[in-house]
Amino acid sequence: MTRLATVVLPVAGSGTRMRPATDATAKELLPIYDTPLLLFALEEAVASGAQRLVFVSRATKPGISNYVEHLMSQEPSFAGVEVRSVDQGEPLGLGHAVLSARPEVLPGPVGVLLPDDLILGAPVLAEMADVFDPASMDCLAAAQRVDRAESSRYGMFDLAMASVGSAVLPARTLVEKPDPADAPSDLAVVGRYVLSEKIWPVLEKTTEGAGGEIQLTDAIAGLDRLYAFQFSGCRYDCGDKEGWFSATQAVRSDRLRKETVAAE
Ligand code: UTP
Repeated sequence: MTRLATVVLPVAGSGTRMRPATDATAKELLPIYDTPLLLFALEEAVASGAQRLVFVSRATKPGISNYVEHLMSQEPSFAGVEVRSVDQGEPLGLGHAVLSARPEVLPGPVGVLLPDDLILGAPVLAEMADVFDPASMDCLAAAQRVDRAESSRYGMFDLAMASVGSAVLPARTLVEKPDPADAPSDLAVVGRYVLSEKIWPVLEKTTEGAGGEIQLTDAIAGLDRLYAFQFSGCRYDCGDKEGWFSATQAVRSDRLRKETVAAE
């Protein structure tokens, strides 16, 4: 297993798709049934062995640092985990957010975990750390099959070989938000990454891409040894109202099932 000394959690986005809820509360603090979305992310990051968590936030979202401070002082499972916070200033894109974290990132491969991509089941970032091989990989990104019609919402993998049932697939490159007709596969990148230190010089040179934002996908496309990781859990885009609602229903079902089992 590769130990991920640092996991970066970008939480500086505007959350416009979840308005008006996000006028009152940061997207990452919205409850998924009975649990703030961010708590799922923190538990997964710590399960990957992270010694340090780096939050990329903004002064307009103070609730996040207050909640993280509360958790770190109250929850025994987070004892010994270092927390750092950097201010992104303006939400110029995920690539810009990750680059903003760099001064606080420890040497070695870094994990990046987007809290609004909730993945229920086995802790995906920990599984990825297990299979990440620094001698042969520059990027391992979580991957999920999507309808091609949805490819313009995702970074899409250009695979080096057709899927052979393996969890780890080599890829030639990534294409950010292609039109369905141009999508090189139906395998989309979702919010978990393990990146070697080679990402930093590439990110520094990455300019605005799709949507006028500095895209992490464009920087990853500049790396040589890319791999997709097909996870087994179920992913919910909680940055979207329907995804958030489905996640809430799934967590509720799970809680009720566990309560029934416990009562038997
Ligand atoms: P999204 O693509 O969901 O963007 O970001 P968003 O701004 O939060 O949401 P919408 O599109 O306005 O509804 C994915 C993740 O990257 C972070 C977000 O906080 C979220 O965790 N992010 C995005 C940043 O930290 N900074 C950015 O500039 C953009």
